[in-house]
Amino acid sequence: MEFFEVVRERRSIRRYVRGAPIKPEHVRAMLEAARLAPSAKNLQPWQLVVVRDQGRKDVLARAANNQRFVGDAGVVFVCLSDPARSPRWHDKDAMIALEHIALAATALGYGSCWIGSFDEEAVKKIIKAPEGLHVVAMMAVGVPAESPPPRPRRPLSELAFSEEYGRPLEL
Ligand SMILES: Cc1cc2nc3c(=O)[nH]c(=O)nc-3n(C[C@H](O)[C@H](O)[C@H](O)COP(=O)(O)O)c2cc1C
Repeated sequence: MEFFEVVRERRSIRRYVRGAPIKPEHVRAMLEAARLAPSAKNLQPWQLVVVRDQGRKDVLARAANNQRFVGDAGVVFVCLSDPARSPRWHDKDAMIALEHIALAATALGYGSCWIGSFDEEAVKKIIKAPEGLHVVAMMAVGVPAESPPPRPRRPLSELAFSEEYGRPLEL
């Protein structure tokens, strides 16, 4: 898939074929996409816990305010950031890496969904996160069981300006 096709085709998928595994080489490719993401001062202040165990995914789904589809995903990437390594950018850098995973998932034919709604302490316990790390977000990735239409976006005229805030951009 070409880059703009990946960007266009990515959307939040909230239904997966339960139990359908993700090939290990695909998990590896998604992790590699994250690894190559940029970070402030190249500090790479994040780590990922890859959850594939069915029981653990279901418990994570409960910790994610009962978003049950999370348990149906083939893999749940739990993204941790380390404020000690990068006090200013740790969580933003983590999110950049996680979005690389989402785009890689689309390119490989999987569906994905950001999970930002969760009980952080519960998630930390489930994955045995060490003290001091934050759970930034999770990314569910699985074999899609739905193909929703694209969600609406604000028009470019509301999002981008020329030279000064509010001045229309003509391209
Ligand atoms: C930081 C962040 C947190 C999100 N958390 C959740 C979540 O907990 N559950 C969920 O179903 N979707 C979640 N989403 C997905 C958004 O709802 C979705 O990206 C948005 O509605 C646009 O839809 P699209 O991804 O299909 O383009 C989250 C997205 C982001 C970027």
